[in-house]
Amino acid sequence: MSNRYAVILAAGQGTRMKSKLYKVLHPVCGKPMVQHVVDQVSKLNIKEVVTITGHGAEMVEEQLGSSIKYALQEEQLGTAHAVMQARELLEGKEGITIVVCGDTPLIKHETMEALFKHHEELSAKATILTAHAENPLGYGRVIRNDVGMVEKIVEHKDASEQERKIKEINTGTYCFDNKALFEALNKVTNDNVQGEYYLPDVIEILKSEGEVVTAYQTADFEETLGVNDRVALSQAETFMKKRINEEHMRNGVTIIDPSNTYIGADVKIGSDTVLYPGTILSGNTLIGSDCVIGPQTEISDCQIGNQTVIRQSAAYDSHIGSQVNIGPFAHIRPQSDIHDEVKIGNFVEVKKSVFGKGSKASHLSYIGDAEIGKDVNLGCGSITVNYDGKNKYLTKIEDGVFIGCNSNLVAPVTIGEGAYVAAGSTITEDVPGEALSIARARQVNKENYTQKFNK
Ligand code: UD1
Ligand code: MG
Repeated sequence: MSNRYAVILAAGQGTRMKSKLYKVLHPVCGKPMVQHVVDQVSKLNIKEVVTITGHGAEMVEEQLGSSIKYALQEEQLGTAHAVMQARELLEGKEGITIVVCGDTPLIKHETMEALFKHHEELSAKATILTAHAENPLGYGRVIRNDVGMVEKIVEHKDASEQERKIKEINTGTYCFDNKALFEALNKVTNDNVQGEYYLPDVIEILKSEGEVVTAYQTADFEETLGVNDRVALSQAETFMKKRINEEHMRNGVTIIDPSNTYIGADVKIGSDTVLYPGTILSGNTLIGSDCVIGPQTEISDCQIGNQTVIRQSAAYDSHIGSQVNIGPFAHIRPQSDIHDEVKIGNFVEVKKSVFGKGSKASHLSYIGDAEIGKDVNLGCGSITVNYDGKNKYLTKIEDGVFIGCNSNLVAPVTIGEGAYVAAGSTITEDVPGEALSIARARQVNKENYTQKFNK
């Protein structure tokens, strides 16, 4: 196999997006478009990946990390000019270079692999990945001669009426003989409607020099969608969502209503888990097997065990164990660690707290900055009073504690193992293990009070 190189074009502002965010950083299913492209390219056994950055270079580099190289395109003079910026890193090297646009987030590594193969089999100097588009508006068109050989690509804006009728489009992905590419780039001019240096012009240049130039047509237009505006962005989202959902379903996840279930590109889900409508799973979320999630549930960056049920709730950046039951209407805030067999019921908010195995907060509670042991029962309306307006303090509740309803635990405070706190208490001092603590005014009954009052 020849050496492989890749150039990813990501320098454009994306004027048509009308956005403060640089185009290639717009997320599709929660992941920036250019990251989708880099993730696929990284499966291709490439020796050097060079991303061309310009607008928002720092943000793009921060997103993509240091495992790939970057070349800065200070002025965006066109796609050919963009590839030129990789010259210092790639020129003169033997091998094949794949060029991919950072705004085609649906491109699959299998298709790029097939493109490489086609290119190698035909010993071509350039191979264009093309697709059939029912509505080719805006794309470059592939011009073939009478015998079907590729002649050139004409940009939509430069195309004649006749050329615009062509439905075979340039997807913006190409394989080039690396040396031939950089030689041909020197010859590209900006003599066109947009006054830009077009990468597709390399095709015509190589062809005119008698080199082998071919096209490989993929059957799946969806995969090659180029995102230039928000309409295309939403189409990309729809296509990607369908792809992700179908992959999970094929892996044994039941999705009751795929059109109403949103799963981020990096989410992992075990088999026999059921997702109800309105479920949104994002970030680095991992869900085990046999779980039930939803309806109307948002989970982001959580690691969840097996046989856990989460209904109509939100959970962020937390660990949640196995056989846990959460919701409806619970809120698990970041850095919570909920162990196995815990129950977090309706209207319970948990923040940065540990819940030991088998503990319960079944109704109407706020538990923040707390360390709760095993088999603790937090009665309805239990509150950790963790904040004095300036600082946050820890509440420690040891194994087997029973907190009666409507109790305030004023932190910092520790409730010792096996202790009882009577309902309605406001606890301001530590409670020793096995003790019963009652911290409320004694009840006074004034006999016949209303009769006297009414006189
Ligand atoms: C380009 C192709 C078109 C193809 C389409 C597929 C050209 C001239 N046209 O058009 O034939 O059908 O993609 O989606 O190549 N970029 C830079 N520097 C620049 C200009 C662009 O890095 O100076 C980057 C952009 O960030 C983008 C990519 O190159 O990721 C493509 O540029 P874009 O302006 O989107 O080109 P299209 O009009 O979509
Ligand atoms: Mg584009």
